[in-house]
Amino acid sequence: MIIAPSILSANFAHLEEDITNLVSAGAQWVHVDVMDGIFVPNITIGPVVVKDIRKITDGYLDCHLMITEPDRYIEDFAKAGADGITIHAEATNHLHRSLSRIRDLGLKAGVSLNPATPLDCIEYCLDLVDLILIMSVNPGFGGQSFIEAVIPKIVRGKEMIAGRDILIQIDGGVDTGNIRMLYEKGIDVFVAGSSIFGSPDPAKTVKEMLEIANH
Ligand code: DX5
Ligand code: ZN
Repeated sequence: MIIAPSILSANFAHLEEDITNLVSAGAQWVHVDVMDGIFVPNITIGPVVVKDIRKITDGYLDCHLMITEPDRYIEDFAKAGADGITIHAEATNHLHRSLSRIRDLGLKAGVSLNPATPLDCIEYCLDLVDLILIMSVNPGFGGQSFIEAVIPKIVRGKEMIAGRDILIQIDGGVDTGNIRMLYEKGIDVFVAGSSIFGSPDPAKTVKEMLEIANH
């Protein structure tokens, strides 16, 4: 299992210290939430920041693009040093083409689904997918409550991939209280923002999450 702290909830004034601290605590991925103010009602960071984060960590840079027409920026994020790019199925007219672009640049390709979006829309693209991100909040902000209605989607997603080499990621409202249940349902990669960065000792919380899921 992989813990991917979402830096959306970090203090950007000391990002380097926070990232290195969490990666040494066992978080293998760094989850970067990119928002454009159109696909979601919030604006965050772009490739310029990813480029600087790349210089300070060897952790896997997991870029979650919550932007419309993501094809416009896939290459920029690849050049900035992203390891994986996840786009929203709802944000592109040609999902198959967008996923191919990510793969062609040598990156891992992820596809994300909002809570209300069914899995069916990715059924015919699975051979181009390395990761399925099941959103457990409506994207846009950290600190929202986990939407329980997505739990059956995790189970169905697991069945749908039918042994393919595809990771299932969950994002939104993940904390030490629900991580074990999510692990049992089949989640491989856990994104957590406010429950890590809002805790008194974020490194300790990452270690606790790893322990809870693995026991
Ligand atoms: C939501 C983002 C998430 C968010 C998760 O739009 O995609 O990655 O930062 O934050 P928490 O863990 O606080 O729900
Ligand atoms: Zn995210």
